Parts: sequence; C-alpha cells; structure tokens
Amino acid sequence: MADENNSIGGKGGSNGSSAGKNGKVGLVERVTTGVKDDIQALKADLPAKAKEQIEGLKDPTKTQVYTSIFRHKHDDTPRNRALGVLSNVFLHLHPAKINRDAVRYSYTWGMGGITFYLFIILTYTGVLLMFYYHPSKVQAFRDVLYLEHDVPFGKILRNMHRWAAHLMVIGVWLHMFRVFLTGSYKKPREFNWNIGVLLLVFTLLLSFTGYLLPDDQLGFWAVTVGTNMARATPLLGHEGPFGSMLGMTPYNDVRFGLLGGSIVDANALLRSYIWHCIGIPIVASVLMIVHFWRVRKDGGISGPAPVMLEAEADKPRRGPKAAGE
Ligand code: HEM
Repeated sequence: MADENNSIGGKGGSNGSSAGKNGKVGLVERVTTGVKDDIQALKADLPAKAKEQIEGLKDPTKTQVYTSIFRHKHDDTPRNRALGVLSNVFLHLHPAKINRDAVRYSYTWGMGGITFYLFIILTYTGVLLMFYYHPSKVQAFRDVLYLEHDVPFGKILRNMHRWAAHLMVIGVWLHMFRVFLTGSYKKPREFNWNIGVLLLVFTLLLSFTGYLLPDDQLGFWAVTVGTNMARATPLLGHEGPFGSMLGMTPYNDVRFGLLGGSIVDANALLRSYIWHCIGIPIVASVLMIVHFWRVRKDGGISGPAPVMLEAEADKPRRGPKAAGE
C-alpha cells in the first residue's frame, strides 16, 4: 500500500497524482505543499530576522555570533572576572584568583615567566634554523656562514636564538636564586624545587649540545673539553673510580656513548643535533608542564603575607578565626 502511494511513474501507473485522485496525498503533492509552507514561513519570519540583524549591527554584543564566542557578561564583577578566565582555553591555565602580593615583580622578579618565554622564542627560532642547517661535517659550518651572510634575516634569526639561549641560562639561575632567597623551596614546594633542579640541568644540557652545532673552533674545543670530563665519571668512565674494574675503555665508556666514537667528529655532531632538537626539548617541555601544574597545586606562588589596605584594616574580620577572637 505504501509502495503504491509513494511510487512515481512505473508500470502500474500508480504515481502521486493518481493516488491523489484516490483521496490520498501523494509524494509530489506533499513535497509541493511542504515547500510552499516553508516559503510562507520564511516570508513571515524575514522582516523580524532582518530587524534583528539590523539591531545587532547597532549593538554587536547582542548578536548570536558574538554571544557564541563570548559567553559571559562584561560588567566588572568578581563573578564575570572569574568567568572571563575560566571560559577561555588559554586563560583557564591560570587560577581565577591569585594573591596580589605573590605576583609582584619585586617578589618573583618575573624570572620563571621570562625563562619560559625565552624557551618559547628558542623553540620558534630553532625550528626556523632547522630549515637551513644540516648536521654534517661538510655542511654545518657552511650553513652557518650562509645564514649569517646570505639568508634574508638569517643573521637576526641566528642571533635571536643565541641571545635567547644565553639569557635563558642567566634567567634560570636568577629564578632559582629568588626561589632560594624567598624560602619557596620549603614545604609544600620541595617536590617542585626538585623538578626545578632537573629543569636547570636540562637547560644547561640544551646550551651545551647547541654549542657544537656551528662546528666552529669554539664549539669543537668546548665539547672536546666537556666530554673529556666524562672520562672521569665514577663506574662509567674509563678513567673514573672503579671504571677500569668494570671493564671501561675509551671505546665503550660513557664518553664513547655521548660522542658516538672516541673523538669529537661526525657522529658527535649528529648526536648533539638530535639531543638538542628532539630529545632534550621534549623532556624539558614535559618537566615544565609538571612544574607549572605543581605551582598551582602547591597553592599558587608562595608570596609574602598579604598586605592589608588601609581601607580594609577597620573592617571586621570574617571566617572561623574572627569567630574565635
Ligand atoms: C626552565 C626552567 C624553569 C622555568 C621555565 C620555571 C618557571 C617557573 C614559573 C613561571 C614559576 C612561577 C613563579 C615565578 O615566576 O617565579 C616557577 C616557580 C617555581 N620554580 Fe621554577 N622554573 C624553572 C626552573 C626552576 C629551577 C631551576 C628551580 C629550583 C631549583 C625552580 C623552582 C621553582 C619553585 C620552588 C617554584 C615555586 C615558587 C613559589 O611558589 O614562590 N624552578 N617556576
């Protein structure tokens, strides 16, 4: 039965109009009526919709587009301020409320944040440098010369990377110094201090592995001296305590592993490059995520005792302490 009503054309000739003749509404009629109804409804809604759009242009904050992006009001109330932070994917990484005195530059020196921003600059400029640099004995130094003299903005790119690297090393030391001076390594932040120590080591390793990459005399000898120290590693270095007892030789000890050989040569350059561009940045990024997460979990930046405003001093105190007084 349904087949008869809905089929159009066909051998039996039972199309929509013949079904309509039988007092049943066929497919074609139903579609036509539906379209007509839709057009009518559209005509009726159009003036109202157009009016809404024109009104919207007068106050864009009332349009559907705007309210779908900004989902809270903008009056300066504590609730709206908190919503502003919580409903934004980037801002919600920060706490909605913080102790004003804890974020004063006179307290933090801004050094943790500056160190992090330098890391971002280093990542960005480092990726751009990778477009021009080949970690091979034939090309590495030539690529550096090419960057310095021929690549448009190459000199500034290379120097941004170099200076940000120097500043990051200085920044991380100053940050550690301020954390020490303010006693912020104490309970409950002792775990984060340890993550920080690892971050310091990885920052220095980034700097050290980057030093060899230009393959110039400075880098070559710095890495020669640096990796020679590894000969004296206890147990793992062939000249270190107990090293020879464990069968360490210049051809199987930790220095050999670092250089990929017994001298600073092509393998050392390649290993430095891979550690510098992939291994260490990944580990450092994960550690930074843990570090920032712990700052929040430990109750935010330690901060001095909150400073009370004069206007607040006379107000009666609230909370359980005030009740006990
Ligand atoms: C790549 C290196 C590092 C980055 C990007 C970094 C970043 C940060 C940031 C942004 C903060 C928030 C407070 C502020 O800016 O002062 C912080 C707090 C902290 N950092 Fe680091 N940090 C690094 C290395 C270190 C080192 C080397 C240590 C210590 C050995 C350390 C220990 C701490 C501690 C204990 C806190 C909490 C301080 C407080 O609550 O007052 N961090 N870090």
